[in-house]
This record gives sequence, C-alpha cells and structure tokens, in this order.
Amino acid sequence: MRIALSTGGGDAPGLNAVIRAAVLSALGRGWEVLGVKRGFAGLLGEDDVVSMTRESVRGIARLGGTILGTTNRGNPCKWPLKQADGSYKEVDRSSELMANARQMGIDAMIIIGGDGTLAIAKELSEKGMRVVGVPKTIDNDVAGTVTTFGFDTAVATALDAIDKLHTTAESHDRVMVLEVMGRHAGFIALHAGLAGTADVVLIPEIPFELSHVCDKITSRARAGRHFSIVVVAEGAVPVGGQESIIGPSMPGQDRRVGGLCSRLAYEIQERTGKETRAMVLGHLQRGGTPTGYDRLLATRFGGAAVRAVEQQKWGHMVALQSPHIVTIPIGDALREVKRVDPNHDVVQTARQVGISFGDQGTPS
Ligand code: F6P
Repeated sequence: MRIALSTGGGDAPGLNAVIRAAVLSALGRGWEVLGVKRGFAGLLGEDDVVSMTRESVRGIARLGGTILGTTNRGNPCKWPLKQADGSYKEVDRSSELMANARQMGIDAMIIIGGDGTLAIAKELSEKGMRVVGVPKTIDNDVAGTVTTFGFDTAVATALDAIDKLHTTAESHDRVMVLEVMGRHAGFIALHAGLAGTADVVLIPEIPFELSHVCDKITSRARAGRHFSIVVVAEGAVPVGGQESIIGPSMPGQDRRVGGLCSRLAYEIQERTGKETRAMVLGHLQRGGTPTGYDRLLATRFGGAAVRAVEQQKWGHMVALQSPHIVTIPIGDALREVKRVDPNHDVVQTARQVGISFGDQGTPS
C-alpha cells in the first residue's frame, strides 16, 4: 500500500501533528507514505512529492505550520493558468493529477484541509480517486465535527491579545477594537470574547447596529467604566450591510475579507467621543505552537484517517463527535457552513454577563 498526504488551504496549528500521526500509523502497517508539497502542486509537476519516513516527522508535532507547505490558490479542478496576455484562465487539471498519482503508484490520498480543500477532495473522490479527508480550520466552520484543530490555539492567541489590550485600554480610558479571523463564522470572536470578558462581540451570525455598540460603550462610561473592549470577527456585518472586503484576491483565491476594524474604530470615536484604537490580529492566529488540545485532536485525526484508509472509507472524512472520532461522508460536512447558533448557550451566557452583540438584545 502506498498512500500520499497533502495539506491545502490556509495553515492551522496542528497540521504537523496530523502528518506525524498519519505517517507513523501508516509506516507501522508496512505501508509507504509520500508527501505532496504545497497542496496539490506536487502532483501537477509544479512542486515535489517526497518520501515520508520516521525521520521526516521527528519532533514536528509541536510545530505550527505544515512541513508539506500549503496554498489556497491551488485547486486542481480550477487551476489558475497564466495566459500570454498576462490574464488568468481557470483550467481543470484533475485528470492530469490523477494520472500522475497513478503513475507514482499512489493507492490512496489523505487530504487535510478546510471547506475549500475538502470540496476538492470530494470532487477527486467522485472522479475515482481513493480519498480520505481530514478537516482543518482555525475558524471552526466545518460542519459534521464538533471542532477542528487550530481553533483552540487561535482562541488562545486572541485571548492573550484581549488580556493585553485590557490593561492599556484601562490605563488610557480608551476603546480598543480587536479584529479576529472568522470569515463566515464568529466562533473565535465569541469564545475569545467571552473568555476574555470583552464588552462587545460582533459576529457574522448576528448583524449589528453601530448605535447599539456605542450605547454599550457610553453606558459603561456613565457607570464609571471609561474603557471598553470590542472584539469583532472579520466577517461581521452591519444590519442590512455587506461584509467588508479588502480588495481583489490573487488568481485562484477566495476574496479577502477585512478592513472592518479600522472603520468601526473611527465611527465609534466619532459617535461616542471616546478615544478609540484598532488592532487586527490577523495571521498571528494561524501561527505558533498548537495547544495541547489541538495537538491531541490533530494526532487523533491523523491516526483515524489511516484507519479509515485501511477500512476503505473512500470519500469520507474523520470528524470529532465527542467523545469519539468517527467518519462521515465529506459531502455531509460540505452541505452547509457551520456557524454560531445565535441561541446557543455560549451566546446566552455572554448576554447574561453583559456582552453586547450590537443588536436589540444589548444589555445596558
Ligand atoms: O479560513 C481561515 C482564515 O483564517 C480566514 O478566517 C481568513 O479570512 C483567511 O483564512 C485568510 O487567509 P489568507 O490570508 O491566508 O488568504
């Protein structure tokens, strides 16, 4: 048996722990393991395919990033091909990829990625490739799994930032607006905001009105609390408005969300008269050492993915359905984006302890 591993999309702390667990589990069964570099590029002659040994994965579980490299511009079914005039055209290179994989004697692939990469895995599986998926995203927005590795580390990073912003905000009587990742889902903002005792949390699932946000800040000031912490998910939307887009992306890439934070900070200062500063946490949330929780989950996913290959669960992905790791059809996970349920107990508790979501349910 010869399997290949690939990591696609944005990186997440824990990827290396998945790779290590999968490589060791496969080698332990007497299988050969290959690593496809930079998403699918290695299988398209655009990068390497390397042999994975015990040495290649020694000491990597604690490292952030992915030793295989990754890209969110490498969909083989919609490959951005540069034309003579400098423009890009999307071409389907999946047949070429599958032919190359066959030629290399690859019997099955373990594809590790978020919704975009899992959609590619599903497509390749439907075209006849033997594929098992492993869900990954710091945003925690993949359905069918309680959580994904990388999320806990991202929350810890955001929480650390909130704690640090608290001291400077309080010293200066300022409002600090912290933008965290979360294009479609506000899990990072919600969890870090509640754990970090933020005053306002804005998430894509609960459209906000600036007037409610400012009411919360001014009512705190009236009560003698002259600083406030606002945590905003990058994909948060005002009532009746759109998500904030930074600008055009590179060919083959999703559009880039962001920019809300500085606009919000400006508006809050204008409306409340309180000095306001903005901070975008950005890719710090994707870097660094995975937490113990993420390392364990990633290791469990890697081991379970190899068992899924052994059981020929083609077109399935591993998922956490506590307390067990199970396998589910990749299509089930892709049917919808997992988002924060506005009635979830975490939201209810956040409201009870005084957090405003910038909506009607704003406590004073
Ligand atoms: O999907 C994870 C994510 O972290 C999003 O929250 C964010 O919008 C995106 O990746 C940023 O990706 P990049 O800047 O790497 O293209």
